[in-house]
Amino acid sequence: MPYNFDKVLNRENTHCLKYDGREKIFGTKDVKPLWVADMDFETPDFIIDALKQRINHPIFGYSFKPDSYFDSIISWNERHHHWKIQKDWIGTSSGVVPSLALLTLALTQPGDKIIVQPPVYFPFFNTISHNGRVVTENPLAKKGDSYEMDFEHLESVIDESAKVIFISNPHNPGGRTWNTYELGKLADICLKHKIIMISDEIHSDLALPGHVHTPLASLHPDICKQTITTLAPSKTFNIASLLTSYIVTSNTHYLQAYKNVQEALHLYVDNVFGTQALIAAYTHGDVWLDELKKYLATNLNYIDSYIKAELPALKLMRPEATYLAWIDFSALGMSDKDLQNFLVEKAKLGLNAGIMFGTGGTGYARLNFGCPMDTLKPALSDLRTAINML
Ligand SMILES: Cc1ncc(COP(=O)(O)O)c(C=O)c1O
Repeated sequence: MPYNFDKVLNRENTHCLKYDGREKIFGTKDVKPLWVADMDFETPDFIIDALKQRINHPIFGYSFKPDSYFDSIISWNERHHHWKIQKDWIGTSSGVVPSLALLTLALTQPGDKIIVQPPVYFPFFNTISHNGRVVTENPLAKKGDSYEMDFEHLESVIDESAKVIFISNPHNPGGRTWNTYELGKLADICLKHKIIMISDEIHSDLALPGHVHTPLASLHPDICKQTITTLAPSKTFNIASLLTSYIVTSNTHYLQAYKNVQEALHLYVDNVFGTQALIAAYTHGDVWLDELKKYLATNLNYIDSYIKAELPALKLMRPEATYLAWIDFSALGMSDKDLQNFLVEKAKLGLNAGIMFGTGGTGYARLNFGCPMDTLKPALSDLRTAINML
């Protein structure tokens, strides 16, 4: 393996949210942080080298995105997702959540309904409500050990004020890589009712071995015309603080509306480091990503076996993508508050409380396994010790 994912790095005192933010989030530094979607692996050499090369020129004034930025996005999406996009379909952004907010302002009016499918990545809720739009829930249905979309319920919540749906594909926190059939059915309903599909595909590169990510917009040109996809290299290569992401849509009206809001808020200035990092990642990152996914799959298998053998009261919803494990703790019989207190105070673990993800999240916690095995193993062992003492 040319890359070493086993290396444990001390991230303390780097203003790193995951470690240095523990006291604020959990009330104590004394927790192993397996929460926010941020991996503990060192940034690959080809990104560091690109950043160093730029730093060698000692002026950091205003910059713009070169053609190589757009070319690398086009090539990456074609190589990895068999999705052909065009340069004039791409809009720039500092982050996926900022894009969701800009699109909300661009494509809807105050009081409009935006549909979400909880349990889901929690900033979806605030993006809608903080901008004066109405969160409308189409909860996912639990089928066996996995989630499915509830299409009948979806049709029942659509009325004339429902304008947009936010889709998490692959799904955070459940880890589903929504398949062609599910996405096609969802799109049929949205096309029929003129609901704009905003597909957050930030986890798209992290489909685990044996699973495939399907870009919603790649299914059909009509679906593409009614979809905006939000993407970034930030989860894949763990470079969230370089504030670089993009949107893709073949609908010129949506793209122009997005750019108009961006311009009104003066939010289009380039981050030269993020741009260099994206180009390097999308040009040289194939082998690293392949190795990363194998490592994540090993971690996931370890968690799966460990839970079955040592923590039989817990149930893992085995993710098909991402490094986030959605674990059902409800058999412990605790309220959400008691569960979080137990995890922090007894197991000394900092996980994301399931209830943050909305309807369906009660009794769950989300564990981030994007870390070296030597970080993961003691965390699970501490959890076992704490549960055995109940
Ligand atoms: C589904 C999803 N969307 C968006 C984000 C965050 O995107 P950004 O940091 O670019 O705003 C995350 C981060 O965990 C996520 O899981």
